[in-house]
Amino acid sequence: MASKFPYEAWQITENGFSPRDLRENESVFALGNGFIGLRGNLEEGTASGAETIQGSFLNGVFDSEPIVYGEKAYGYAKNHETICNVMDAKGLALTADGERLDLGVSDVREHRRVLDMRKGALCRSFFWRTKSGALLEVRFARLVSLAHMELAALSLELTCLEGACALRLESALAPAVIAEGDPNDPRNAAGKDRSLTRGRVLAEGSLLAMEQKTKNSGFAICCALEHRGIPGSARATENGALWEAQQSLRAGESLHFEKSICYAAARHGEGPALWEDTIDACRRVPAFDTLLEEQQAALDAFWDGVGLEIRGDDALLQGLRFNLFHLFQSAGRDGRRNIAAKGLTGEGYEGHTFWDTEAYILPVFLHTDPALARKLLEYRYAILPNARARARELGHEKGALYAWRTIDGEECSAYFPAGTAQYHINGDIAHAVSEYYEVTQDLDFLASCGAEILVETARLYCDLGFFSAAKGGRFVLNCVTGPDEYNVMVNNNVYTNCVAEENFRRAGEAMAILREKRPEDYARLCRDIAFDPCEAEAWLEAAEKMYYPAPQDGIYPQDDDFLSRKPWPLDTIPPEKHPLLMHYHGLTIYRHMVCKQADLILAMTQYGERWTLEEKRRNFAFYDSVTTHDSSLSMAVFSILAIEIGEVQTGYDYFMSSARLDLDDMHRNTKDGLHMANMAGTWTGLVRGFGGMRVKDGLLRFAPVCPPQWEGYSFCVGYRGRTIRVTVDRDGARYSLLHGEPITIQSFDEVVRLA
Ligand code: BGC
Repeated sequence: MASKFPYEAWQITENGFSPRDLRENESVFALGNGFIGLRGNLEEGTASGAETIQGSFLNGVFDSEPIVYGEKAYGYAKNHETICNVMDAKGLALTADGERLDLGVSDVREHRRVLDMRKGALCRSFFWRTKSGALLEVRFARLVSLAHMELAALSLELTCLEGACALRLESALAPAVIAEGDPNDPRNAAGKDRSLTRGRVLAEGSLLAMEQKTKNSGFAICCALEHRGIPGSARATENGALWEAQQSLRAGESLHFEKSICYAAARHGEGPALWEDTIDACRRVPAFDTLLEEQQAALDAFWDGVGLEIRGDDALLQGLRFNLFHLFQSAGRDGRRNIAAKGLTGEGYEGHTFWDTEAYILPVFLHTDPALARKLLEYRYAILPNARARARELGHEKGALYAWRTIDGEECSAYFPAGTAQYHINGDIAHAVSEYYEVTQDLDFLASCGAEILVETARLYCDLGFFSAAKGGRFVLNCVTGPDEYNVMVNNNVYTNCVAEENFRRAGEAMAILREKRPEDYARLCRDIAFDPCEAEAWLEAAEKMYYPAPQDGIYPQDDDFLSRKPWPLDTIPPEKHPLLMHYHGLTIYRHMVCKQADLILAMTQYGERWTLEEKRRNFAFYDSVTTHDSSLSMAVFSILAIEIGEVQTGYDYFMSSARLDLDDMHRNTKDGLHMANMAGTWTGLVRGFGGMRVKDGLLRFAPVCPPQWEGYSFCVGYRGRTIRVTVDRDGARYSLLHGEPITIQSFDEVVRLA
């Protein structure tokens, strides 16, 4: 399928304007910095005849509302949390001789939008022939600053090429116009009152400011705008504030205008001077050009850490860079905000954080920007008290149970079979903590946050499972849902048991490390969380006796009963009935042998040493035939295992179907936001799939293959203070140590010393 975007290494270009594509392009052209997220809405507002989804988001800022259940039972999640679509500040309406610019009706030519992923800016240009006969060249540029979390900015360069006109600019600060979600799509927020109440408004000279409050969650949100370049006046309006300016231009004359946007938010009275501080910050914003330089510096550092090249496939290179760029833009950086399933690009999944972060996204940052990875894990530490409370609520006497989906830590999943029952979330977080320590050896983190997370998640699994006489005294975990949401509340989901086993082992090891290397922290933890070394012995026993369903004719069931369910050959399901969750009742799905994403395949990529290559081959073929990939998280995982078992073409096909999933709107829901986990999965597909990277017991190992479609590829990975560049072509691989002390790595079976 040809893409609507030309294949370019560092940018995404939209040539022309297609009203039909407007909503998904608003996601594609979204900008963010981990706090602020602005959809790529047109500056001048909606184009007549085109559907738009306006969006300005602040990571972690949400409103909540009680969940209304028809039949409510004990322990159900109580509240929805929905990311706020806050006041819109990015608009700039243009009027020439009384004619309002509107892409749906105005005579606009050579419309072009460029997302520059190296500069971190979105630029737009076009020619506008006004009804009065003037020809104007219009250039907008916008950025969301990676150097100043509270800041976004916009610039306008307007030149009159022919004729003359009287221009009018209007910059409004107003509540967002919130699009209706789809009430029939569980992945989409709908039917909730998402309006915010308005607080103070200021309109003074070149400055506008406005305050909003959430109804139930206690957030105050402030936004201030400063306008520069041409004189104008400000006034309060019915729903906010407006700055307006007029200027006449004759042929050959131009105007340059800049707008700075500062956002801030605080909860329950934190940040007492929020209003004053935001206004103050806005008055001090540097010029747009300076912001651009800072932006470029932040992105240079990021791209250096990533070091990504694909030679011989421009479409893929563009897709991968696009994915990484959006991940970088969406990840929270202050230890209190995380990364939502759709990042800061849309309202799909309501701005919730899932296991997506630890299982998919964290590995990317772990090896390219470990400081950012740590911040994402600190978020989990910050919400550990909620997880403890939730565990008690669900009747677990010990430990902590993380929410399946949440913004501030409270469980928000109204459908527990595919929500709270996903106990693997604990193990995913524990796995990420262990991997983080393995890769960074960051003892401070282990002592201050990591060990406590590991202990509390292990305690929970200990309480959840038991040594079952019916299973020969093995440790079982019953009535859980694995990542595969088409098989719910099963016994002994293989992936869940794997992550729990690892959690048991790593929790004990973490405490042993602290006892040896940080005795004071160890003593503090023993006191604060009442850790008793006997617990670690019990965990080890549970780990050693963990039960895994036995294979039947060489096929490993992904849970106790998977192979006894009714077959549902995928070729009998018409394409229009996908995703199944939108067309069949859950009960129909659950009684069939069908997967949304396959947990055994995931387990085989993450805990590969448990299975032989032959077992992996056989099981790959089987699960490939029963998996719908209705989750965007599925294909990257299949691609990694396919490559490992030598099916490079199959791996390539899976990889390619996930690499440009959003750029080419393959799931037809890019309009609701970009699929962050899939985007991260493509990096993992390259590095762990084609690059064959695995980390084990302090040794970094690669087994690179180059698919025949490419000339070669390179990437960088950080590991224990080193940066290693891996360059692969059809003749083999080269490893270079770019930074750090000499290190021994493994390439296939060969041990290599890099200096
Ligand atoms: C997937 C989950 C994922 C969620 C958010 C669902 O479709 O099945 O694994 O966490 O989307 O991305």
